[in-house]
Amino acid sequence: MKVGIGILGGGTVGGALLQYLINEQAAIVAKTGLELEVRRVAVRSLSKTRAFPIPVEIITDRPEQLIDDPSIDLVVELMGGLEPAGDLVMRALQAGKPVVTANKELVAARGAELIQRAEEKGVSLLFEAAVGGGIPIIRPLSESLAGERITRVLGIVNGTTNYILTRMSEDDLGFDEAVEEAQALGYAEADPTADVSGADAAAKTAILASLAFGTWVSVDAVYREGIESIEPIDLRFAATLGYIPKLLAIGVETPTGVSARVHPALVPLDHPLASVRGANNAVFIEGPQVGQLLFMGPGAGGGPTATAVLGDIIDAARELLAHAQVAPRIRFAPGRLRDFGEIETKWYVRLEVADAPGVLALVAGTFGEFGVSIKSVWQEGRGEDATLLLITHDALEANQRAAVAALRSLDVVTEVAATIRVQSDEP
Ligand SMILES: NC(=O)c1ccc[n+]([C@@H]2O[C@H](COP(=O)([O-])OP(=O)(O)OC[C@H]3O[C@@H](n4cnc5c(N)ncnc54)[C@H](OP(=O)(O)O)[C@@H]3O)[C@@H](O)[C@H]2O)c1
Repeated sequence: MKVGIGILGGGTVGGALLQYLINEQAAIVAKTGLELEVRRVAVRSLSKTRAFPIPVEIITDRPEQLIDDPSIDLVVELMGGLEPAGDLVMRALQAGKPVVTANKELVAARGAELIQRAEEKGVSLLFEAAVGGGIPIIRPLSESLAGERITRVLGIVNGTTNYILTRMSEDDLGFDEAVEEAQALGYAEADPTADVSGADAAAKTAILASLAFGTWVSVDAVYREGIESIEPIDLRFAATLGYIPKLLAIGVETPTGVSARVHPALVPLDHPLASVRGANNAVFIEGPQVGQLLFMGPGAGGGPTATAVLGDIIDAARELLAHAQVAPRIRFAPGRLRDFGEIETKWYVRLEVADAPGVLALVAGTFGEFGVSIKSVWQEGRGEDATLLLITHDALEANQRAAVAALRSLDVVTEVAATIRVQSDEP
């Protein structure tokens, strides 16, 4: 049975998908019974040299042609960005065509609206590749685990920053050097801001938290810190203390509401996420019935991402051929979003202090005033160069911040040189 496919975008993922659909067509038919025929691919430049050339009879620089073409049953959006991708996806859904997209930015920003339009039109909007590249995570969350009351999502969802942090901590590279290397290997964009600022991870966290908790979490509600201010000296201290830095995506549901955040954290070396190296991704899903599940694998790259896109295409094609009225996968109910200050966190704090008697008691007393207790403390060096490293117990984020602000006003504290959150030992 033939299904006409239109692909918006023929870049890293679009190119890999097209190549696979053309070269492996017989194998796909044998395995699924579906003949997926690419009828048009829209790109910006018709003259660009491509790793896998797009046949002239299907290439176009007019993406709207795909929407209007009656021979195209299903639209795959692999252009990226909010516009014109958003408008094209909306128009395809409006025209009653199922849409498959890998665009986390678009899904995080307009997912609720797009899903609603898809439901109204009785077609699917599928976005497995938007989070975790080749790792199946959206479908398990929205189908296999749809009945579970998921309480926590914890993971590494940005391969670029994971690569940079791995190189910085294992091979002593500086931040700029590690970014340049990631760019040379194709892991980081020419402008790496979306990755290093945590924006890409925040979009993925918004999607994961929304599906996990059934409450739409907009990307603006995700607390976000990037990895730009992580200094090599803290990575060396962290290694001595038995930790490695990771950019973590964390979503939690408690009786008082849902929270979602992205920030660097020191992870104990024996934590399962500590061994997720280089450009890999890993996500823990936790629920009272199922316990803990770990999804791990390549979080990006043309091949892995195209595999996830293809899975969605096959799913949507089956629904089309069955003339199935697509049931909503997850319904989103209103829920309370917790303020970041209400979250409990542990902190690593590096202080430059005067090497005078009573400094430690003064520092501990200041934390204590805000209800923060200290788990462990180390002193490095003596005299003018004394450095104090502290790890606190769990306390309200707002209190940790207030305590650190109060430390700044102590005469004996020359500088609060660094603060990094610390992930608990257990996954
Ligand atoms: N790359 C990955 O590893 C990965 C992983 C997971 C998800 N994703 C997501 O997948 C999507 C595609 O990523 P990618 O890496 O494949 O991007 P890409 O290599 O930059 O490719 C984008 C494609 O879209 C075309 N395009 C862009 N704007 C257009 C416009 N206005 N009109 C017509 N065509 C336009 C480009 O045309 P030209 O070729 O002519 O420039 C190009 O073919 C993004 O949403 C991304 O976030 C990517």
